[in-house]
Amino acid sequence: MLRHALDERTELKLLEPRHAPDLFELIDRNREHLRRWLAFPDYTKSVDDSRRFIESRLKALARGTGLALGIWHEGRLAGVIGLRIHPISRRGEIGYWLGEAFQGKGLVTKACRALIDHAFGELKLHRVEIHCAARNARSRAVPERLGFRQEAVLREACWTAQGLDDLVIYGLLAREWPPPPA
Ligand SMILES: CC(C)(COP(=O)(O)OP(=O)(O)OC[C@H]1O[C@@H](n2cnc3c(N)ncnc32)[C@H](O)[C@@H]1OP(=O)(O)O)[C@@H](O)C(=O)NCCC(=O)NCCS
Repeated sequence: MLRHALDERTELKLLEPRHAPDLFELIDRNREHLRRWLAFPDYTKSVDDSRRFIESRLKALARGTGLALGIWHEGRLAGVIGLRIHPISRRGEIGYWLGEAFQGKGLVTKACRALIDHAFGELKLHRVEIHCAARNARSRAVPERLGFRQEAVLREACWTAQGLDDLVIYGLLAREWPPPPA
């Protein structure tokens, strides 16, 4: 999945070291927005940090344990979607974020759909999970929109800038994908 069109204005592209300046600039512009729910912006202080993140995800790709894709909208990097893979159990976990200005356009929902197709098709995974902080309503809406089942709530297992929150685990099995039309 080097490059995959989501619609006429949006595409997924494998993140490569040459994208590090764009990635850092997007994070830098969105620190306050992202750090409400995610810890990584505080550990991303330079373009080199973004390059190291991309290189670590490329190493994971080589090992078969993950991948990270940029979500590009109208030629600009809008966000990131990634998959962490547990090869023995053929289980994957999707994570995502968008720059604040790119929310509300369905970009992450479309990106998830494409990544789930890839996970169950090409990668032959058996199960995909999405983990969300209980209070992160926008994030929870993504798996709920895609037909995931809420399977577990781990009490106070999730770091957020507002303090510990419950962690909601959503799961989807290969045989449940794609969901029947609504
Ligand atoms: C979580 C996050 C990615 C969700 O972003 P989002 O824009 O709400 O999600 P999507 O890109 O799927 O867009 C869905 C929105 O676009 C609208 N939309 C427009 N066209 C759409 C389409 N074709 N398909 C689906 N939704 C569409 C939906 O109605 C929804 O808007 P609403 O919330 O006003 O109803 C974003 O809020 C974010 O990055 N937050 C900070 C980081 C974070 O929390 N990451 C997740 C950690 S678990």
